[in-house]
Amino acid sequence: MPLVLDGKKLALELAEELKVKVFGLFQRPKLAIVMVGDNAASELYVRNKLVYAERVGISAELIRLDKSASQHKIFGTVAELNENDSVHGIIVQAPLPDRSCQERIFDTILAEKDVDGFSATNIGRLCNGQRDCLIACTPLGILTLLAKNNINLAGRHVVIIGRGRIVGRPLSILLSQKFENCNATVTLCHSESRNLAEIARTADVLIAATGQPKFVTKDMVKEGAVLVDVGISSVRDDTCPSGSRLCGDIDFDDVYHICSAITPVPGGVGPMTVAMLMRNTLQAYEKFALRT
Ligand code: GUN
Repeated sequence: MPLVLDGKKLALELAEELKVKVFGLFQRPKLAIVMVGDNAASELYVRNKLVYAERVGISAELIRLDKSASQHKIFGTVAELNENDSVHGIIVQAPLPDRSCQERIFDTILAEKDVDGFSATNIGRLCNGQRDCLIACTPLGILTLLAKNNINLAGRHVVIIGRGRIVGRPLSILLSQKFENCNATVTLCHSESRNLAEIARTADVLIAATGQPKFVTKDMVKEGAVLVDVGISSVRDDTCPSGSRLCGDIDFDDVYHICSAITPVPGGVGPMTVAMLMRNTLQAYEKFALRT
């Protein structure tokens, strides 16, 4: 039977640790979440972030902008939050309705408040091997989930499917670094990769971040591999009262008997992303407190 890597349970344990740390602070760390429009998935992610923040004692403010908000308005909102000393962390929930400015918006957030770790400065620092920068939350969450389950990546072959800006790309940089529990040999695959199944079958650790439900099937998995599922899609299921259910990028039932460990969906990587966002907010606050 494979080990099911329970991210929900670990995120709740980490919340207790964070709560103790936050309680001992002079001031409550504050996270500002900018959300443009009403994307259904984003609504759910943001709600989870607000609930977790409340649990650990971080003050989280949701700033909603209309889906027709101009670029000027979004940039202006971020600029004000950058200026505001009572705000220690800022995120702009992706995707934006107008994706053409997403990259520039991420980059407008001050590096020391960029708790998503998406800015060019933080990504650049990560590339340069600076462990003390703010690191993207999903990659950090995956690393923490594996490490806490004693799955060390050093010297192992990690295959990541999906080179996206939020997960695959920063994850490939993080895991290849000479950091604790990293030091992996990383292969980053994408939609143009040839012989994808063949490459995937060479993975000791296979990470799927494609956004395509049940993309990874047993023909892509080596016996004993560790499987990490980043995807979370809503798929139609008439047997569920709601008519739909959440589904990952890995066909869980198909691969279950081959792998040695697997993250469930939901309850695997998702809650870890939220926990790491709060850890980053605390880190940003601590640096701010040292400066002032
Ligand atoms: N959309 C999906 N995941 C994320 C995330 O980790 N951060 C932000 N800002 N937007 C997202």
